[in-house]
Amino acid sequence: MDKLIIKGNKKLKGEVEISGSKNAALPILTSSILAEGKNIFKRIPELRDIATMGKLLVNLGADFSFDKGTVIIDSSSICNFEAPYDLVKTMRASVLVLGPLLAKYGRAKVSLPGGCAIGQRPINLHLIGLEKMGASIKLESGYVIAKTGRLTGASIYFDIPSVTGTENIMMAATLAKGTTVIENSAREPEIVDLANCLISMGANIRGAGEGIIEIEGVDSLHPAIDYEIIPDRIEAGTFMTIAAITGSNLLLKNCRSEHLDAVISKLKDIGISLDLTEKGLRIMCKETPSSVDIKTMPYPGFPTDMQAQFMALMSIARGTSIIRETIFENRFMHVAELRRMGADIAIEGGTATIRGVDKLRGAPVMATDLRASASLVVAALAAKGQSTIHRIYHLDRGYERIDEKLRKLGADIQRISS
Ligand code: UD1
Repeated sequence: MDKLIIKGNKKLKGEVEISGSKNAALPILTSSILAEGKNIFKRIPELRDIATMGKLLVNLGADFSFDKGTVIIDSSSICNFEAPYDLVKTMRASVLVLGPLLAKYGRAKVSLPGGCAIGQRPINLHLIGLEKMGASIKLESGYVIAKTGRLTGASIYFDIPSVTGTENIMMAATLAKGTTVIENSAREPEIVDLANCLISMGANIRGAGEGIIEIEGVDSLHPAIDYEIIPDRIEAGTFMTIAAITGSNLLLKNCRSEHLDAVISKLKDIGISLDLTEKGLRIMCKETPSSVDIKTMPYPGFPTDMQAQFMALMSIARGTSIIRETIFENRFMHVAELRRMGADIAIEGGTATIRGVDKLRGAPVMATDLRASASLVVAALAAKGQSTIHRIYHLDRGYERIDEKLRKLGADIQRISS
């Protein structure tokens, strides 16, 4: 298993190109199931999760190729309708084949994702929505087995605005008979990107990003041609916290700052300057940041996927910060590791109290999930001395060549492959 060795406490400098969004790419790749023929997607990041999605689509019978950010999927030859346990257990987003398979082929067998490091993460909302559209669903030996004739439009209300739930239902509804309305749908930029991609394929969708989505089903979709996905807002946010914690001046290229309003607002609150220029988003940090309180919320609130990285930043801030995690019940796995680096963090339920310390110290630490791993990189870049981050396969799921990008900015970071 690869590990990273980081010698921290260095200022970074230069510009970094933000990659395409992982969480936009995953549902967009599964949308190819809906349209027979050659789908072409651009700016797809080279990540472990994208490779897993490729394996899953090939397992269904599709042709999948990846070359320098361009993915070509020909789904005409799909002949298998199962997402097996082995693939779903390594990537929960595999469940995103459920809606498209049901809509296009009337059947799907998808392993139940089960809990994961950050919480239970059920998929009941996906299943209730599909049942309302006429699918018959049973759970058998750890699998969701779903069957239907042509799905029919329905009125669906989400108790919680689930991101992948909204995506599954939206994709299923594009080929349903009649109109589907999803109320209290998720409003993340990745939802809007998926809707735009589906619209480019001939779907009829209104309201994506606004909380109520209306989809009028059509008889068929045509393949997506050269659809370019949005930049990864979480990668951009992670580089912002890296600039802030190391007191650096960085230029983020290919960054959509309007997708990061909540994060940028908090950065400004703690004394970081951000300037949107023609070349990109410049982030300038001179002084030690001050403390701030944060509560994670569905978009447009502060993203749970930035909570761990912000906690690393707050661990060296002036004063005490309170971070409340409201989306996932167990998303503080990074705390014990940050403590090993000298952070002063106390947890009670879903609330973390972080008392800023003068300096973090390098230490051997263990990555436990994707964003927790990112927080350890953020902390290690600021820490005095050497840190070794073990089990970085989590990081490779979601950050494209992060070590290379950081080295270009002047970081002392080495990947040891074993
Ligand atoms: C997506 C993102 C993930 C991000 C999360 C929240 C992808 C591939 N992943 O995950 O990076 O952290 O959104 O922004 O896009 N819930 C239910 N029942 C359901 C579905 C969800 O109770 O059927 C709950 C979950 O347990 C969680 C909350 O709703 O507490 C939000 O989860 P959800 O938005 O579904 O997260 P994901 O789509 O899995």
